[in-house]
Amino acid sequence: ANKRRSLVVGNWKMNGDRSLVEKIQSQFSQASLANMDWAICPPAAYLGLFDSKTPLGAQNVSQFDSGAHTGELSVSIVKDLGCQYVIVGHSERREDNFESDEVVALKVEKILAAGLTPILCVGEPESVRDAGTVFEYLTKQLDAVVTLVGISAFANIVLAYEPIWAIGTGKTASPAQAQDVHGFIRGYLANLDSNIAAGTTILYGGSVKGSNAKELFSQADVDGGLIGGASLNPEDFLSICLAA
Ligand code: G3P
Repeated sequence: ANKRRSLVVGNWKMNGDRSLVEKIQSQFSQASLANMDWAICPPAAYLGLFDSKTPLGAQNVSQFDSGAHTGELSVSIVKDLGCQYVIVGHSERREDNFESDEVVALKVEKILAAGLTPILCVGEPESVRDAGTVFEYLTKQLDAVVTLVGISAFANIVLAYEPIWAIGTGKTASPAQAQDVHGFIRGYLANLDSNIAAGTTILYGGSVKGSNAKELFSQADVDGGLIGGASLNPEDFLSICLAA
């Protein structure tokens, strides 16, 4: 929203196959999306199957540079495979892989050092929303990154607000709920640096569909979306991009 350029990113998570790579490329090859940015974050094993016209991101990278870290991918490897973006701190990785706020911050630092754009995810579980402590919860997640990389680094960071209770549940945050939190996040950044805050792209993620994208994206502080399930259908994903 506002003068910031919209961004819509598809996070395939552990889904998709070679044929989806083909389908998404043919769907987007005819689309005219000159006024917004988009990208796909497929499973890392498929990154090398995309043509150079598809903007790409990785779903994760290691906090280490290289070496004896079996099963991990470094930021230089995903860069070599054509990634511009890296999702970091997704709630599924925080939960499945026990990633702490501090590990997330280390990853953000590595991604920035490689010249790629971190898509830093924050978001509260339902219990925190019920307790009314959403802003405190998000402040702690954001503080860990600001402490390590500094506020000026946020000129090169994309934020994504993904309330955990809205992920894959079909239960989207209402446009007003999303705006409330996005406004809080921009205010948090503005307390540290108002220019950085004005320029930071803040995406919403959690059950975004073709049918609700337009209203969410029209909120003042919602600059686009991070799309899970709906990004697995090329037509749906394109319609969400067109809404941005
Ligand atoms: O990263 C995207 C995400 O977690 C939202 O998933 O399936 O609710 O769109 P979904």
